[in-house]
Amino acid sequence: MSPSPVTNEKQRPLVLITGANGTIGFANLLLLLTHNYRVRCALRRPSAITQITSSPLITPYLPNLTFILVPSIAAPNAYDAAAQDVTFIIHTAGAIPLPSANPITDVLEPYVEGTANMLSAALKSLSVKRLVVTGAMAGLVDPATLWAEGNNAPKPRLSETSRPPDLPDDVVIDHPPKAYMVGKNRAMTMLSGFAEQHPEAHFDVVQVVPGTVTGGMDLVETREEARRKMDRVSSGALFGETYGNRFFGVVGVADCARCHVGALDVGRVRGGEMLVAAWTSVGRDVGWFWRDAVERIEGQFAEEVDDGVYTLGRKPFTMLVQVDSRRTEEMLGIEFQSFGDQIVRAAEWYRDLKG
Ligand SMILES: *[C@@H]1O[C@H](CO)[C@@H](O)[C@H](O)[C@H]1NC(C)=O
Repeated sequence: MSPSPVTNEKQRPLVLITGANGTIGFANLLLLLTHNYRVRCALRRPSAITQITSSPLITPYLPNLTFILVPSIAAPNAYDAAAQDVTFIIHTAGAIPLPSANPITDVLEPYVEGTANMLSAALKSLSVKRLVVTGAMAGLVDPATLWAEGNNAPKPRLSETSRPPDLPDDVVIDHPPKAYMVGKNRAMTMLSGFAEQHPEAHFDVVQVVPGTVTGGMDLVETREEARRKMDRVSSGALFGETYGNRFFGVVGVADCARCHVGALDVGRVRGGEMLVAAWTSVGRDVGWFWRDAVERIEGQFAEEVDDGVYTLGRKPFTMLVQVDSRRTEEMLGIEFQSFGDQIVRAAEWYRDLKG
């Protein structure tokens, strides 16, 4: 029998994780540690290690936590040393498509080369049983249709059986968000085809495809920092920010971590699966559930709304796809937090931060 994350064995497997100083990665790290896994974090900068080890949430678990520096994830053999002797890998690191980024070297290559490097490191490390990789809904949609479509175009439906569309090799990559989509597309294509191309491999691959991740970021300490780092959907509903007013799907950060850690359970999740980490929006009208979320904030945080803590955005963002994640819920035995619950959770988190 293979180890399962919900049993209580003495010595739990060693898991390599990347991106642990980001929102998804940090939530994964904490959930792994509280489930008694031993964890090795591969990080690009020493400052990221300090950031993690100085979090009081992490302190109790330091005996089960080690670090390794991998300064450039796109460099050849980047992860070979990091993958030695680990049973599982959760690869989340990538690149944020900031407006100032070079689309190719800062965004596309970290995804494509980083994923290829992780696969080759896992092929060389015979202890690896499963590689879990964080994908993106953006990688499952053709960028050509995304930038062309208006608000009323029919929405593609994303589910566990979706696969990245074939993009032409010479697709034009002229800005960071496009580089992000193409990079994710190519990385996910590589991962979807891995089992077929490597039938001899000693490990399997599971992809986790999250929507926009909402809720608390445990490494954030002040409201000012929260406003800068908060996901766009929550800041749209809570503060009326309209920057990037479109989204694919949404997932609470705790649910997102449950999907990643649950993906290690080889008894529940088969190799080759793609889990959809987002609340099911199929058949639900964004105009309705957005308004409902804002009304819940007005009801539950009346005083804060009066005081101007939440300035509220009543105009719903455009949903670019319809998400159907019911199969993921069934596989993992979980129920995703609804849109309204996620926005309420984000509001609670923000309220409790230092002013
Ligand atoms: C470290 O992990 C072991 C299992 O591998 C567990 O028994 C122990 O309680 C963990 N220690 C801490 C400090 O969490």
